[in-house]
Amino acid sequence: MSEWLELEGRTVIVTGGSSGIGKAVVEALLENNANVVLADLQEPQQELYDKANDDQLLFVRTNVTERSSVENIVNEAKKKYGKIDVLVNNAGINIPRLLVDPKQDESQFELNDAIFEKMVNINQKGVFLCSQAAGREMVKAGKGVIVNMVSESGLEGSEGQSAYAATKAAIYSFTRSWAKELGKYNVRVVGLAPGILEKTGLRTPAYEEALAYTRGITVQQLRQGYTNKSIPLKRDGKLSEVADLVVFLSSDRASYITGTTYNIAGGKTRG
Ligand SMILES: NC(=O)c1ccc[n+]([C@@H]2O[C@H](COP(=O)([O-])OP(=O)(O)OC[C@H]3O[C@@H](n4cnc5c(N)ncnc54)[C@H](O)[C@@H]3O)[C@@H](O)[C@H]2O)c1
Repeated sequence: MSEWLELEGRTVIVTGGSSGIGKAVVEALLENNANVVLADLQEPQQELYDKANDDQLLFVRTNVTERSSVENIVNEAKKKYGKIDVLVNNAGINIPRLLVDPKQDESQFELNDAIFEKMVNINQKGVFLCSQAAGREMVKAGKGVIVNMVSESGLEGSEGQSAYAATKAAIYSFTRSWAKELGKYNVRVVGLAPGILEKTGLRTPAYEEALAYTRGITVQQLRQGYTNKSIPLKRDGKLSEVADLVVFLSSDRASYITGTTYNIAGGKTRG
């Protein structure tokens, strides 16, 4: 498999690679002998370093919302590996909030400016900043791939998660538009849109409490509903299944794929 994908020696930046999907992506890339630049607010656990050969994993503490911090990733990646082949825009957050909460005035579960701006900054502006910084290098090199972690909610909408879903809808659009701009420089831009997955760092108690509230159900009911009847495959997706798609899209085996976002949701299309 690793030989078929031919990722050995490729340099891949993964934002948000210390937890959840990003961590699974880093593991899959290391298995495929790629060099990984892990850009995250928090350092990965030792187990991730243990999976890397000498010099195969570089952690760069990064805040994707700050231009100087993002430019630092590119500089560090070039210093260590001399080039950037792939950027995986994965860092993201989700804070569920209602547009209107008729149950209480000044509700903590109603969307406010600060929460809206925080989600747009990380999920949308962060993708723009990282793609611009890495994209400049790829255009100069005449080759590269940008892989965006979207979410099926971006197309489908999501009760209690409108601001999050809207940031993801923006990434569908970035993916299509940047593919049109960068194709002539041999730079591909692709997305993937997971549905319901096994638990990640994103599913915190505060997240579950807020999402259950916005849907008028208990946290218990919310948990039962994660693997609900609307998924034809009748189970959550594995993080490794999402990582496998990222790795494929990053490789030259996907060389004629650009400007599109793959649904990876076990057949679930509405929710
Ligand atoms: N978990 C799911 O079910 C699911 C479904 C669809 C899409 N997604 C998307 O997948 C991506 C990863 O989500 P996850 O569930 O693995 O979450 P997670 O919370 O486990 O991991 C997110 C990582 O991003 C990092 N991060 C957050 N803000 C950052 C910033 N400003 N700068 C740099 N790093 C930052 C965090 O430190 C963390 O390590 C997100 O874009 C999310 O929207 C997740």
